[in-house]
Amino acid sequence: MSGNLQFNKIMAAGLTAALVIVVARVGVDALYHTEPPAKPGYAVEVAEAEAGGGAAAVELDPDWGTVLPTADLAAGEKVFGKCVSCHNVDPANANMTGPGLWGVVGRATAGHAGFAYSDGMKAHAAEAPTWTYDQLYHFLGNPAKWVKGTKMGFAGIKKPEERIALIAYLHSKGSTGYPIPAPDPSRQPGAAPAAGAAPAQPAEAAAAPAVSSAPAKAVPAVTGSPAPAQAAAAEAPAAAQ
Ligand code: HEC
Repeated sequence: MSGNLQFNKIMAAGLTAALVIVVARVGVDALYHTEPPAKPGYAVEVAEAEAGGGAAAVELDPDWGTVLPTADLAAGEKVFGKCVSCHNVDPANANMTGPGLWGVVGRATAGHAGFAYSDGMKAHAAEAPTWTYDQLYHFLGNPAKWVKGTKMGFAGIKKPEERIALIAYLHSKGSTGYPIPAPDPSRQPGAAPAAGAAPAQPAEAAAAPAVSSAPAKAVPAVTGSPAPAQAAAAEAPAAAQ
């Protein structure tokens, strides 16, 4: 009986050792044998994860206290030409396909009387109750991405300088009572992004590679330190049963 147990122990030790060798070999192959990219994403994903953590990869929101006072209102009016088929910005503030935009900067999100907002815009209002400069900047850059389910059928204004001029123009139309903040050094080029300064989307993007690069991380762990190899071996008998 005890001899049998002894035999089992020896067998288990032998199997465990064999398993560790196999796992280690697979790990070493994965590390050094990179030409046939069975999963070409590995190298790119690691690079992305590194880039995501770097300050250079994070696009800062504009420093409104600096850019608004010097913004080109005439250029903003020209950009607004892309909006006039659906919006007006007159004091009468009539709704068209889209809500009247007189005084929209600093106005309540989905807050213009008499306009039937989409459910997506109403849900957005619960999270972002005011059209702040930052909210307008992100929404107008890519409406459908920033406000999921919006019925504003507009692709967005990609160029940051055009969006800034447009927002300055909107501010001049019924929103001059909404204050321009003081200049914020943490938003100026070269500043280390303050906690919370990064917009939501880049944070998500930075998190994604961490999840998908899990196999890449597991490989160095197996070869790097004995502890994970033991853990892997400990799992194996359970799997074999
Ligand atoms: C094709 C029509 C269309 C165009 C073009 C368009 N919009 Fe809109 N816009 C809408 C609609 C419709 C809504 C309501 C969205 C909702 O309820 O989801 C809206 C909503 C908005 C809101 C939110 C207003 C509020 O009261 O909450 C802002 C701000 C806005 N648009 C600005 C602009 C600007 C600036 C432009 C031009 C760069 C523009 N839109 C171009 C149709 C349009």
